[in-house]
Amino acid sequence: MTPAETSSPVWTRKDLIGLEDLSRQEIEMILDTAPQFVAVSKRGSGIKKVPLLQGRLIVNWFFEPSTRTRTSFELAAKRLSADTLTMNVQASSSKKGETLHDTLDNIEAMHSDVVVIRHSFAGSAHILAERHDSHIINAGDGAHEHPTQGLLDAFTIRDHVRKQKNDPEATIDGVRVAIIGDISHSRVARSNIWGLTKLGASVVVCGPSTLMPQDIARMGCEVTTNLREAIKDADVVYALRIQLERQAKCLFPSIREYIRLYRIDNESLKHAPEHALIMHPGPINRDLELATDVADGPRSVILEQVSNGVAVRMAVMHLLVNS
Ligand code: CP
Repeated sequence: MTPAETSSPVWTRKDLIGLEDLSRQEIEMILDTAPQFVAVSKRGSGIKKVPLLQGRLIVNWFFEPSTRTRTSFELAAKRLSADTLTMNVQASSSKKGETLHDTLDNIEAMHSDVVVIRHSFAGSAHILAERHDSHIINAGDGAHEHPTQGLLDAFTIRDHVRKQKNDPEATIDGVRVAIIGDISHSRVARSNIWGLTKLGASVVVCGPSTLMPQDIARMGCEVTTNLREAIKDADVVYALRIQLERQAKCLFPSIREYIRLYRIDNESLKHAPEHALIMHPGPINRDLELATDVADGPRSVILEQVSNGVAVRMAVMHLLVNS
């Protein structure tokens, strides 16, 4: 082996825009950096903080509603000892027509280090990253990508595989993940397909044909409209939120029809292996795409996804700023 092949990988990217851009090695670098931050968050006594971003300014800039991602980034920044600034979009000059670039020029004049942006425009994080010096993290851009969701999902799956196999080095190669629901409008589905397939998992997407992009198979996943077929060999059943707010028109005949064919509940799960984990990115439309007793049941790892999100976002910010 040459010295280059034996040396540890080094993070070189300024921004995190999407998992499509990342190599397997880069994704694994983030996942391998996160466990130390899980340990920080779990400190029973003592301070749940490390000084890795002390004195840095992290700006949360959310144009769309968010509970998990916004609070998770804020908490991640605080646990890294950074200063945080949450933009109040409703009360900002974007309401008077100020462009994203002009607003960010002004934020950067106050010396921001990291800007976390969620926007309904696919490509918004990318165009900011090209022109500005701050590290840009995409917290969801339209139906394009939600990379930190994909990373925290991969981390959660890998954690369970490692526990099931009692092997701290186990990977998710060969794990089968069934993603169910509104694939068309889902940035979570896209980031998961890119991320999980790069990590060696097999991904099958399933939903009504009206909620399935024509060319989705090009991303390297299997496609079916049959729920039983999708979940029959699944190690993970991943329910997506039906994004009623993004649908220009009703794309399935009725909620009752969707529930009958695609809801993840104890009845449909009879066709999945007993060991299959249940995941959902949140927020859940309870008893629409996911039955309440399954969401809150023993196979659900939905709140673990949320806990892991803080550590994964700490890892992302640490790598972007300190490498
Ligand atoms: N999973 C997710 O992005 O949730 P929020 O919309 O609450 O951030």
